[in-house]
Amino acid sequence: MDLILFGPPGAGKGTQAKILVEKLGIPQISTGDMMRAERASGSELGNKFAHYMTQGLLVPDELVLELFAQRLEKPDAKEGAIFDGFPRTVDQADALDAILSKLGRRVDHVIALQVPVESIVERIVGRRVCLSCGQTYHMRYSPPPPSGECVSCGSTDIVQRKDDTEEKVRTRFEAYEENTFPILAHYEPTGVVEKVDGLGEVEDITGRILSALGKN
Ligand code: AP5
Repeated sequence: MDLILFGPPGAGKGTQAKILVEKLGIPQISTGDMMRAERASGSELGNKFAHYMTQGLLVPDELVLELFAQRLEKPDAKEGAIFDGFPRTVDQADALDAILSKLGRRVDHVIALQVPVESIVERIVGRRVCLSCGQTYHMRYSPPPPSGECVSCGSTDIVQRKDDTEEKVRTRFEAYEENTFPILAHYEPTGVVEKVDGLGEVEDITGRILSALGKN
């Protein structure tokens, strides 16, 4: 199954993707996580990503597409994948359709998480992330343990992302509205788009997604 988890910054794409990996047995492909890993390596490509990401702007398509195509070729994505934060532009959606088509596949589902902008700002500003394993926390809804150790890997490197300020979130939301939202109209004619309420308990939202996928 090839599934796009779609939604604005902070909609819960990463949170749900990590749970769905277990439930569906296919990997999460997050272009944002891949770019942060490249940045952490200190490579020239990582520095190019940083230039855009720290401003809350989209990274140019040509840089994203090469990274994405290389990841999709890995054996664990042979039976499908959960696309988190990709595609971000209609051109990226066209490229994804072409890459999948060559593999005899197509986008089977687009799950569009619906979250109002006020909740997005609160979620993003309160987010903390484990630098070691990527586990996500929220200072109000799911705080890290008092010991400061990550529940998944024990690391104490739990930080706020540099683009998780209120100012940057608003820029990211504008980029979403202008460039990413039109992707829904790209996929709607093929009947694969399901709108899912993204507010409420994390496990309730997972249940709604699985229902939309016909999995429970
Ligand atoms: P990326 O890393 O993809 O960020 P994003 O799309 O802005 O999404 P987020 O990771 O911020 O949010 P999310 O929906 O995953 O929410 P989460 O589950 O963490 O991209 C970052 C940057 O990289 C972009 O700005 C761009 O520069 C670049 N980039 C990446 N991909 C690109 C591409 N394809 N093309 C061009 N540029 C690209 O949840 C958020 C918070 O809410 C967490 O704290 C979580 O604990 C909490 N939360 C989750 N669910 C709930 C709930 N039900 N109730 C309460 N709190 C909740």
